[in-house]
Amino acid sequence: MKKFRIGILGAGRGLCIAQNLMLIDDCEVVALCENNEERARWGFKEFGFTNAGKELPVFKDFDEFLEQDLDAVVIANYFHEHTPFAIKCFRKNIHVFCECISNSTLAEGVDLIRAYEKSNSIFMLAENYPQMIFNREMKRVCDGGSLGKILYAEGEYNHPAQPSDKEFTKGFCYFPEHWRHYLPRTYYVTHSLAPIMWATGATPKRVSAQAIFEPFTDKASARQVGDRAAIITTFNDDGSVFKFTGCGGFGAHSNSYRICGTNGQVENLRGMGDKVMLRYNSWSIPEGKEETNLYEPEWNDKDEEFIKQSGHGGGDYIVARMFIECLKENRQPEFPYDIYSAINMSSVAILGHRSVLNGGKPYDIPDYHLEETRKQLENDNDSPFYYSDGREPTIPCCSHPDYRVTDEQMNGYLEFIKD
Ligand SMILES: NC(=O)c1ccc[n+]([C@@H]2O[C@H](COP(=O)([O-])OP(=O)(O)OC[C@H]3O[C@@H](n4cnc5c(N)ncnc54)[C@H](O)[C@@H]3O)[C@@H](O)[C@H]2O)c1
Repeated sequence: MKKFRIGILGAGRGLCIAQNLMLIDDCEVVALCENNEERARWGFKEFGFTNAGKELPVFKDFDEFLEQDLDAVVIANYFHEHTPFAIKCFRKNIHVFCECISNSTLAEGVDLIRAYEKSNSIFMLAENYPQMIFNREMKRVCDGGSLGKILYAEGEYNHPAQPSDKEFTKGFCYFPEHWRHYLPRTYYVTHSLAPIMWATGATPKRVSAQAIFEPFTDKASARQVGDRAAIITTFNDDGSVFKFTGCGGFGAHSNSYRICGTNGQVENLRGMGDKVMLRYNSWSIPEGKEETNLYEPEWNDKDEEFIKQSGHGGGDYIVARMFIECLKENRQPEFPYDIYSAINMSSVAILGHRSVLNGGKPYDIPDYHLEETRKQLENDNDSPFYYSDGREPTIPCCSHPDYRVTDEQMNGYLEFIKD
């Protein structure tokens, strides 16, 4: 069988995904698009990417890159600039594996869905966190039905980082206008939200959020967001409620999730590795279970060897495999990896921040299936980010709109990234 020819946009996360694709028989990585030579060098070194001994052609221009007879493209350029590149792929019926988030404004969501509906492309969100072992186990428990009707779930992607971490700053936040310095706390939402959507099958319909303001005082920092976390709640299409973070930054690091039904609840335990706690009401214990069950789930997967060498708890390999399976079977991915769910999550990110800026006001999540909704949103271009084409932020990125790092902090940062 012919191998699928995959191109990679972005030499950071993109090459990390490429490495996982290299483990799968049915595809080959044939080209990289990266317009910053230094980043290309850094990426090859940082992620130890080798192309089975062959040199990977690097293109600076995306249109030229797209001419390389590609079946699919991994979109891993800047976080807030995925949409125009996905649309270019759709116009050529090239399949898309898109890093989070799919669109950085509500108007981009309209452009994205319109272009998608005109194409034959498969779109899959490259969201790896649902495939961590404990999240797979929680989905298995939910699917088994023993929790009863699902009422409530929590998701926490808590990833504190120190501005004084030189290696991280130089590798991931390498110029003052970089998106990581302007990232509102609700925007990096898919790592906390997608796992609970996947496990429960629920889709957010209304969002509200509150931020916790506690700026860094480090001498070197360009981080223009003084918030440490945002706590987001959604009301969902099945009547359930979710509570989750975007990317949180309070002590201490954890990815933790909890799902509660009428009969019981399941969660992974913070600071306890991959352990899962499953508990039932004393009157609704299913056969073969105890009231309290604490255990280490198992993969039970034919590719355990690859999963164990892959990043993000094995999630990186599993989502890459899921994408190639979609290509082989010529079908769209399962919920919530599909484009409508991806845009739904982007809307939660965008409107969650709008809620933060408006005192926690709730916003309805738009239904992008409807043409009248699209008409209403096609000019909603508000964004907290700087874009490569010169566009500047139109809204504050922080809950305290006037917050800025001091001149001393910015000068310290510029000195910091110099050598
Ligand atoms: N799922 C995960 O676990 C995970 C982990 C890290 C990053 N990410 C996502 O991956 C994406 C990339 O993040 P990153 O960490 O690599 O940092 P990054 O955003 O700084 O890297 C983007 C890369 O794309 C290149 N690029 C930007 N515009 C380009 C263009 N027009 N043509 C060619 N190259 C261009 C940049 O030079 C840079 O090397 C983001 O969306 C991020 O959210 C996901």
